[in-house]
Amino acid sequence: MTALDLIREKRDGQAHTDEGIRFLVSGAARGTIPDYQLAAWLMAVRLRGMTDAETSTLTLAMAASGRQLDLSSIPGRKVDKHSTGGVGDKATLVVAPLVAAAGVPVAKISGRALGHSGGTLDKLEAIPGFQVDLPVDRFIEQVRRIGIAIAGQTADMVPADRVLYALRDASATVDSVPLIASSVMSKKLAAGADAILLDVKAGRGAFIATIPEAEALARALVTLGTQANRETVAYITDMEQPLGRAVGNALEVKEAIETLAGRGPAELEALSLRLGAEMLRLAGVPRVELKRYLTDGRALGKLAELIAAQGGDPRVTENPGLLPTAPVQRPVLASTAGSIASADALEIALAGKALGAGRDRKDAPIDLAVGIVLEKKVGDRVAAGEPLATIHARTAADATNVADRVAAAFRVGGSAAPRVLLLRRVTASGIERLDA
Ligand code: URA
Repeated sequence: MTALDLIREKRDGQAHTDEGIRFLVSGAARGTIPDYQLAAWLMAVRLRGMTDAETSTLTLAMAASGRQLDLSSIPGRKVDKHSTGGVGDKATLVVAPLVAAAGVPVAKISGRALGHSGGTLDKLEAIPGFQVDLPVDRFIEQVRRIGIAIAGQTADMVPADRVLYALRDASATVDSVPLIASSVMSKKLAAGADAILLDVKAGRGAFIATIPEAEALARALVTLGTQANRETVAYITDMEQPLGRAVGNALEVKEAIETLAGRGPAELEALSLRLGAEMLRLAGVPRVELKRYLTDGRALGKLAELIAAQGGDPRVTENPGLLPTAPVQRPVLASTAGSIASADALEIALAGKALGAGRDRKDAPIDLAVGIVLEKKVGDRVAAGEPLATIHARTAADATNVADRVAAAFRVGGSAAPRVLLLRRVTASGIERLDA
């Protein structure tokens, strides 16, 4: 068998054998198949799709391509949480300490920003001193000791995904259900949790634009988890506009801290409480009123413990002014009055990236202080001359460069209702509508 046989097979719309898929994954992980052949195969998959059986074999082979964590020494049912990627999505920074405070052991492996979407590791690095690279034994010891650790994948985990993801990003093959599903679930399976909660983002700021496509992805993710004996639940949530108000690393940490202190944007709080309650259920931890944890300091206290354990300055939880701040803050004003009809998540993300908040390559440096804060969200009224957003920039010239783009991301119309955030809940038994 050769890579060329597999490219031809998929190009012609045929299904691969298990053996063929394992050959490809091992060739990707060990570097024995050249990038141009892997990229051609990815495009064939993007155009021709994969059967459920192929996607399952691909996922398991990718998960087994490197180190797999054994979390069995941590007492309790471990639940992982993962978002498929969005704009302003700081929910992990809220949900993880919230549920850890309520007794769910959180052993979370997170990723970095890539393309227009943000990454939890970069956000955490906005906290002075915070270390995201933990050796596996320290990661496990920390979860045993304080109930929570958030770290980056070690270099030897899921090497096949590292190779394939970078090629997908460079070959316009990210938006494929089998490729996203295998990428996400191979990492979740290798990370060793007993149950998995997924937040599948749908809309302009996500990798998947429509609800039907998000349903197909959520179903594929849940099927893969269930087949691997991990109870898996997926929520489909709106990503037409950014989540919450802040987009940009330190700005998002500040908003997460405010939310953990019970003073965050209502929609971010609602999403965090819903996902948190689902994680409690998946962990088999007695149901508690999680909202109380946001007002009595327990959730914020757990974030402070996490920060201290990973070398960061926990005083940021009391004084977010200790986070990096951009020197220039410039409002973007509405030219007409009306209701906000849309606040395009992709355009806002790209403006944030142009300010330096994101990256094109995994190793490119980012500016942790810069970003955009939305002063208005869809459904809000705005008067002419009122701020739509505030740009946080390194220089006045940087702010000027993106000001028109940020303004154009907002559409002001006659009247518009707020967007519904929670759209679907997908389990092994089916799809439940949450927006009806
Ligand atoms: N997140 C991942 O880890 N992989 C994808 O393909 C898309 C989002």
